[in-house]
Amino acid sequence: MPFIIVFSFFVLSLTAQKFQGLSLTPPMGWNSWNKFACDIDEKTVREIADAIVSTGMKNAGYEYVIIDDCWHGERDSLGFITANKHLFPSGIKALSDYIHSKGLKFGIYSSAGSHTCAGRPGSRGHEYQDAYMYAKWGVDFLKYDWCGTDKLKAEGAYITMAEAIIHADRPMILSICEWGINKPWEWGKEIGHLWRTTGDIFNCFDCVNGLGEWKSYGVMQILDMQDGLRNYAAPGHWNDPDMLEIGNGMPKNEERAHFSMWCMLAAPLISGNDIRNISNETLNVLCNNEVIAIDQDPLGIQGFKFAVKDSVETWLKPLLNDAWALTLLNRSKTIKNVSIDWEAFMVNDSLFNKNINTLTQKYEIRDVWKKTNIGTTNKSINFAVPSHDVVMLVLTKTQ
Ligand code: GLA
Repeated sequence: MPFIIVFSFFVLSLTAQKFQGLSLTPPMGWNSWNKFACDIDEKTVREIADAIVSTGMKNAGYEYVIIDDCWHGERDSLGFITANKHLFPSGIKALSDYIHSKGLKFGIYSSAGSHTCAGRPGSRGHEYQDAYMYAKWGVDFLKYDWCGTDKLKAEGAYITMAEAIIHADRPMILSICEWGINKPWEWGKEIGHLWRTTGDIFNCFDCVNGLGEWKSYGVMQILDMQDGLRNYAAPGHWNDPDMLEIGNGMPKNEERAHFSMWCMLAAPLISGNDIRNISNETLNVLCNNEVIAIDQDPLGIQGFKFAVKDSVETWLKPLLNDAWALTLLNRSKTIKNVSIDWEAFMVNDSLFNKNINTLTQKYEIRDVWKKTNIGTTNKSINFAVPSHDVVMLVLTKTQ
């Protein structure tokens, strides 16, 4: 008997390498990188935290305020990391306290290598010291990047930081950011809470930016790279197709499509814009509660591409209580008319054992962007889907 207890404890401690019970739905928040890159300081972060509250984004679910690269100063004589004194003169603890006082959570950034992607000190060889400092500062979320890693093995490097966080004894979401190059979906679920699946997003709907290894990708390119990954996502660990570019200049239709598709993917919703100057249009996209509810559905099932016809993709996502989200995505430059024959609409999601058969079960149909009920599945319906836009529906079972 004692042997069994000792043995099972050993197995547990080998597998439970991260804080459990976090990110049971995809994390939501804001990150400094997409808009500010290295042009970030404590005043800006405080003002953004204020704006998350005053705009209603906090009420909509945006919770984590994350400073990305470039907050760092030097390591002190004992090797502990410090903040850049010019950009963060009050120190990180004061900023973290301020963010917590707003009822929000605080996130920070480092890299597993000797330096970060912007050349600041990385955590390699300092993992336990850094996790200790983050815990003292009240950090709730660590984005852990992959620059400066030379020949490091990704899985081992992320286990080291996950163990360091456990040792520091403060629950933190660990965001694995090695751009999908070592297939983190295959090993990340006991180590981190989300993992980037691709290189960086670029602020465009349908383009690739850059050359060689340092390409960044438009919204459609990133969407295409999510193929085959849905079985790896579940409550507590998510595929991360990168942060949102909503509010950084795309037209409203493309913002709506970007947001809808990230919600269909059960992606983390980390906004990356200047919330202090957000337009009402962008706010309405980021805060549509019915669309957010699709992302945050407690089943945590990632959606899938069901059909493609004439540049219009039909995506489906199973939701709680045998409901479904259905999105028509028009990738072309012209408006498309799509007719759905609801009377005989059949879907078999064998991976999650979810089915639609409208011959035996009728559904109510709601348009979640127009916020109107548009009927039931007892007849065909025509949809006009504008260019680079979506029609997004939720189907709920009729009695
Ligand atoms: C990498 C990451 C980005 C961002 C930058 C910061 O490129 O993928 O999301 O964190 O580093 O330098």
